Amino acid sequence: MSDSREEYNRGGMIAFIFSMSFVFLFFIYIVAIHPGVNLDEKIKDPTASLEVVAGPVFDIATVKEPWVKNDDVIVYGKKVFSTNCAMCHGEQGKGDGPAGAALKPPPRNLIEGKWTQGGGAISLFKVVTNGIPGTSMAAFGHFKVADRWALVQFIDSISQNKSKDTPEQVAEFAKTAK
Ligand code: HEC
Repeated sequence: MSDSREEYNRGGMIAFIFSMSFVFLFFIYIVAIHPGVNLDEKIKDPTASLEVVAGPVFDIATVKEPWVKNDDVIVYGKKVFSTNCAMCHGEQGKGDGPAGAALKPPPRNLIEGKWTQGGGAISLFKVVTNGIPGTSMAAFGHFKVADRWALVQFIDSISQNKSKDTPEQVAEFAKTAK
């Protein structure tokens, strides 16, 4: 009888020690190993959190005159460019995108801005809308008008050969531009 109680107690003690060490190891894991939520990491990269904050706030559809110079529109235009044009014109617009390497004529270096179609904001809008026949420069007339103006603003912002169209000329053209 006393033997079996000793058996029982030893079993209980082993179970107790076993579960306590489990709890202890789990505690060590949570404190020392588990990555958890590191608030410092979020603060370290201010642009990443800005992106999260600024991203959904800017809506190109709320810009009434997307042809008027506006830094938000330029940033938005860079995103449109990155998705649709960078494969040929390169991420920085140097004409060195991976899909452009074998093209003849090659994609234009938009920074040098040696334009063949005029190069003012109005002519850039027409190029983006209609493409350049006989070359790989495709027409993007199916893009929203505001998106095309955002592309024009982005290109003008990186070009060394900036648009000489006056704001009045551009506004006049924009009235009818589709
Ligand atoms: C399939 C490759 C390709 C894609 C994609 C492409 N382009 Fe082009 N682009 C070209 C080529 C090639 C030329 C040069 C044609 C020439 O030399 O006449 C060109 C020329 C241009 C020019 C020069 C116009 C001028 O007056 O000289 C502009 C501006 C331009 N592209 C803007 C864009 C924009 C904006 C996009 C995205 C919406 C885009 N391209 C997408 C291949 C491409």
